[in-house]
Amino acid sequence: MARPDLTARVVDGKALANTLQAEVAARVARLAARDITPGLVVVLAGDDPASAVYVRNKARAAEACGLRSRVVRLPAEASVDALLDAVHTANADPQVHGVLVQLPLPSHPSPEHVRRVTRAIAPEKDVDGFLPVSQGLLALGEPGFVPCTPAGCMRILAHAQVPLRGRRAVVVGRSAIVGKPMAHLLLAADATVTIAHSHTEDLPGVVREADVVVAAVGRPGLVHGGWLKPGAAVLDVGINRLPDGRLVGDVDFESAARVAGVITPVPGGVGPMTIACLLDNTVRAAERELS
Ligand code: GUN
Repeated sequence: MARPDLTARVVDGKALANTLQAEVAARVARLAARDITPGLVVVLAGDDPASAVYVRNKARAAEACGLRSRVVRLPAEASVDALLDAVHTANADPQVHGVLVQLPLPSHPSPEHVRRVTRAIAPEKDVDGFLPVSQGLLALGEPGFVPCTPAGCMRILAHAQVPLRGRRAVVVGRSAIVGKPMAHLLLAADATVTIAHSHTEDLPGVVREADVVVAAVGRPGLVHGGWLKPGAAVLDVGINRLPDGRLVGDVDFESAARVAGVITPVPGGVGPMTIACLLDNTVRAAERELS
């Protein structure tokens, strides 16, 4: 719904994702003519409600675009070996082009276990773009799988025609799956990039210098309108469930949308684009069979 009280253009991530999914579906149809159906396997351990929603949304979107999608469900207490088995089976299946392990792994909080399982994914099927080789190629500016959330953010910036060359971009958050790859993509687009994090001094002052702000820290409403340069583009990657059940981002939308030039809402902003980019990556993996 249009909000005349806001200065910012509010990006409709759902509509943008639908457009990308229509392109993906057209590419799936072209592959069908060559008897190829892109296949995606999601390994899901346990019954974390948020993960269940994400995985259901991924599977539904995949099927809507004509991909073959399979969720391999394992109990929360599944061993590392059982998880590895599921990954190896998907790796070996020629009908599967993309494999991902939904995180977090409930009974394996140890980073070493998570690494062992996620690193078992075959590099040519790494549609999440989490493997060191995928991240390394991105850092080098070479072609490879780009993690889906940062890829979705770049598509949003392109759609909103936000200039990047020479502009100041601040990524708040340094995670391996959002903050760091996001910074590499912005750098590749010739922005001047700062990665801010929990130890950054004067975070509001750092953010205020930015023409583009990407908030990816998991702190509800952290980035306030008073922190922003007027007209800045603000991408909110946070998905935080409040005690009252509301879903909010890392940006205080009401104050920020009165200062920003472009802003993504939560829900309905970056989230749907993440899923569309996962399908894009999976179809790209299948398209490699053509060459
Ligand atoms: N958990 C939350 N988001 C993601 C994602 O994009 N990929 C995987 N594998 N797990 C997640």
